[in-house]
Amino acid sequence: MASYTTTLILLPIFLLSFVVAPASAADLNQDFDITWGDGRAKILNNGELLTLSLDKASGSGFQSKHEYLFGKIDMQLKLVPGNSAGTVTAYYLSSKGSTWDEIDFEFLGNLSGDPYILHTNVFSQGKGNREQQFYLWFDPTADFHTYSILWNSQRIIFSVDGTPIREFKNQESNGVPFPKSQPMRIYSSLWNADDWATRGGLVKTDWSQAPFTASYRNFSAEACVWTSGASSCSSATSSNANNGAWLSQDLDSTSQDRLKWVQTNYMIYNYCADTKRFPQGLPVECTAS
Ligand SMILES: *[C@@H]1O[C@H](CO)[C@@H](O)[C@H](O)[C@H]1NC(C)=O
Ligand SMILES: *[C@@H]1O[C@H](CO)[C@@H](O)[C@H](O)[C@H]1NC(C)=O
Repeated sequence: MASYTTTLILLPIFLLSFVVAPASAADLNQDFDITWGDGRAKILNNGELLTLSLDKASGSGFQSKHEYLFGKIDMQLKLVPGNSAGTVTAYYLSSKGSTWDEIDFEFLGNLSGDPYILHTNVFSQGKGNREQQFYLWFDPTADFHTYSILWNSQRIIFSVDGTPIREFKNQESNGVPFPKSQPMRIYSSLWNADDWATRGGLVKTDWSQAPFTASYRNFSAEACVWTSGASSCSSATSSNANNGAWLSQDLDSTSQDRLKWVQTNYMIYNYCADTKRFPQGLPVECTAS
């Protein structure tokens, strides 16, 4: 009886309020600021479309107006078409400071017809070195596709068109720091990285193809917004707790099968399999589970 009462008293804490961007016709002006590129980044069509461009003089970028501490964040991207060798489109979450947390998607361009690499990484407390890279099972320049980050206190799941490609679990119990206390902002940029991006830097950017353009649309976030030291998720203003399923979301068996399919067929680099790189032993999160 006593514990039942306690549960009832604590319940309001778990009745959460979320910021949910409307699924259609969301206005990107409401969620993002263009931060650099001197006019090369644009929000168009009443906020339905955002474009970044890169030419020899500069790239461009934007960031979210909000900071988030946990969320399920979807964005549709259409990457630089044609000869995109040397270009990198980065789309990521990051906190600030020298012990920052970061969750990265980076799209490494390529010659026409050659595959993009989707590069992912997770930083916690300023430490990354957790790269996994993938080819995609479609041409990411032909159309928009949805790239999602699910970030809750137990796991980070990277997905592409709803298919999970990577899971990074909370392994604090094994001594691995997990991003869970520093709010992060969304950042994106398009820049020249032809010293390393394409075939390890062998293929240079062909500036005769400039300007290079990547496009964004249909942002949606179910997320805890962090404002002046407080999370929107700790206020008890909404009773629609169902909307918070993502806060404890896990991979069901179908999703685990999909993840395995991607990792078997499309993963081209996994730090957890790189024994040469870690002669002293693989990172703890690779071996404990
Ligand atoms: C570019 O294409 C080459 C040849 O198919 C491939 O080895 C490489 O992984 C591709 N992607 C990048 C970003 O270099
Ligand atoms: C926009 O995103 C929502 C949810 O992320 C999705 O249901 C919808 O189909 C997307 N719209 C388009 C035009 O792809």
